[in-house]
Amino acid sequence: MSGHIPVLLSEMLDALAPRDGGIYLDGTFGGGGYTAALLRAAACTVWAIDRDPQAIARGADVAVRFPGRLHLLEGNFADLLALLTARGVTALDGVVLDLGVSSFQLDTPERGFSFRTTGPLDMRMGSAGATAADLINTLAERDLAAILYTLGEERASRRIARAIVAARAEAPIDTTTRLAEIIRAVLPPDRSGLDPATRSFQALRIRVNDELPAIERALADAASLLRPGGRLVVVAFHSLEDRIVKRFMVEAAGRAAAPSRHDPRGLQARPAPAFRLLTSRAVRPGATELAINARARSARLRAIERLAPMAPEDPSCSAR
Ligand SMILES: C[S@@+](CC[C@H](N)C(=O)[O-])C[C@H]1O[C@@H](n2cnc3c(N)ncnc32)[C@H](O)[C@@H]1O
Repeated sequence: MSGHIPVLLSEMLDALAPRDGGIYLDGTFGGGGYTAALLRAAACTVWAIDRDPQAIARGADVAVRFPGRLHLLEGNFADLLALLTARGVTALDGVVLDLGVSSFQLDTPERGFSFRTTGPLDMRMGSAGATAADLINTLAERDLAAILYTLGEERASRRIARAIVAARAEAPIDTTTRLAEIIRAVLPPDRSGLDPATRSFQALRIRVNDELPAIERALADAASLLRPGGRLVVVAFHSLEDRIVKRFMVEAAGRAAAPSRHDPRGLQARPAPAFRLLTSRAVRPGATELAINARARSARLRAIERLAPMAPEDPSCSAR
């Protein structure tokens, strides 16, 4: 099992700009690369969440290196508000989310995330809930096709779902490689060199872990905890995640398109935005990083900063 190389690490540090005495949340602890970098960069405190018990167990080593400054919490970042407020943390100077799976998870065949090695078709980041095998072997063909289409953007979703249902009638599909072979028999490799199973595995992983609703909730709750000057930094790995992050940040910064002037809402004054966008375009890895870490290729970083509230007597307030 290899380690996890943190992606866009220096760009994340630049965007979050940790400072001495600050309180930060790393909502996706993983291999602890971001957390350790934050703790090294400033005399700050980090609360770190991961839903994977194995990630939290690995964190004990990092906590020993930074006595009293790292607090590890096993849980879903969708529940960050409850997890933090239960411990008396009601305001933060920064939050970072590095979405998706870690190399520890991908490279451990027994976790069932990868179609490159044989393992049980599990794909759960945590230890509870239905596995990918449960879904593959029980869902109706039309529901399987819908998952592959909406969460994997797989255009051959119906053909793949039909092949899965035919194959499971012979024997339950319970390994990663059997599912990958069923998909490859339906879809020839395309010119990009992408394995035909990639999009379907992505879709199943997102569905098994209910990832997209968790991101929506975490963004809103993380932003609500930020102090003025506090920053939210998110690294996403595929377009569905990045679209949610981009929309959230653009709206929070008041940069969403205004309603048409024919729409009555267009006549109402829009409230002053509470955030500013730090990244007008997503930050992507450079050639040097890509040369040492191919897994970084689709990473995109976006960030916002909470603005200080405007004083009521500020004339620019009433002019709006
Ligand atoms: C890409 S890795 C993070 C790597 C980390 N930044 C580092 O430097 O080592 C993503 C981690 O987030 C965790 N994760 C993903 N979704 C989560 C969620 N909804 N709640 C909590 N943890 C989550 C995964 O279990 C995984 O360990």
